[in-house]
Amino acid sequence: MKIFLDTADVKQIEKWKDTGLIDGVTTNPTHLSKAKGNPRKTVLEICKLLPKGEISVEVTEKKPDAVYKQAKAIAKLSKNILVKIPCHRDYYPIIAKLAKERVKMNITLVFTLIQGLMMCKLGVDYISPFVGRWDDIDVDGVDVLYQLRHMIDEYGFETGLLAASIRGVRHFNEAIMAGSDVVTVPISVLEKSTDHLLTDQGIEKFDADWKKLGIRTFP
Ligand code: E4P
Repeated sequence: MKIFLDTADVKQIEKWKDTGLIDGVTTNPTHLSKAKGNPRKTVLEICKLLPKGEISVEVTEKKPDAVYKQAKAIAKLSKNILVKIPCHRDYYPIIAKLAKERVKMNITLVFTLIQGLMMCKLGVDYISPFVGRWDDIDVDGVDVLYQLRHMIDEYGFETGLLAASIRGVRHFNEAIMAGSDVVTVPISVLEKSTDHLLTDQGIEKFDADWKKLGIRTFP
């Protein structure tokens, strides 16, 4: 299972990269706007930081023809880029065209099993169901992860399931349990998920007990 960082914060990416756990990054217009600066520069910096990682970069154009052109331009920025395109019916023809041209794509804003199936049929690399945004409107967003996993396996599609819009540790756990191929995690959730009070207490206790021995060098 791959872990992506859901951010465009270069400093955080740099920090987490050293853990050896990060397989990629998902940026979006919101993240790039928060990062400030020139978005092209930020994207290139992220691609350079994780040369073997998969970096998602979203289109910002609206009209299908313009989205197509922009997708091609984004893909040319770096070999490790996946173009993020919203799962909207107007874009189906261009997603089909880009898939035939072997442009790597991560289809974003997927909310239902049927939307996911359509994208798998078009042969995209990843579909990103947005778990948290379902929860925001009081619907359990995790269910769609299980449905999509079942659908992909049942029909033998090669599209990867990328759990997105992860709001907390529970979503992270569920993404794992549902068999997602990737989970993209905000830094705050990754921090919470990798912290444990009992681990910290355990380290302190071992340290205190060890010091009772009075030995300075070991082994
Ligand atoms: C995924 O690729 C998106 O960047 C992200 O998960 C969006 O989640 P949000 O609902 O927190 O904006």
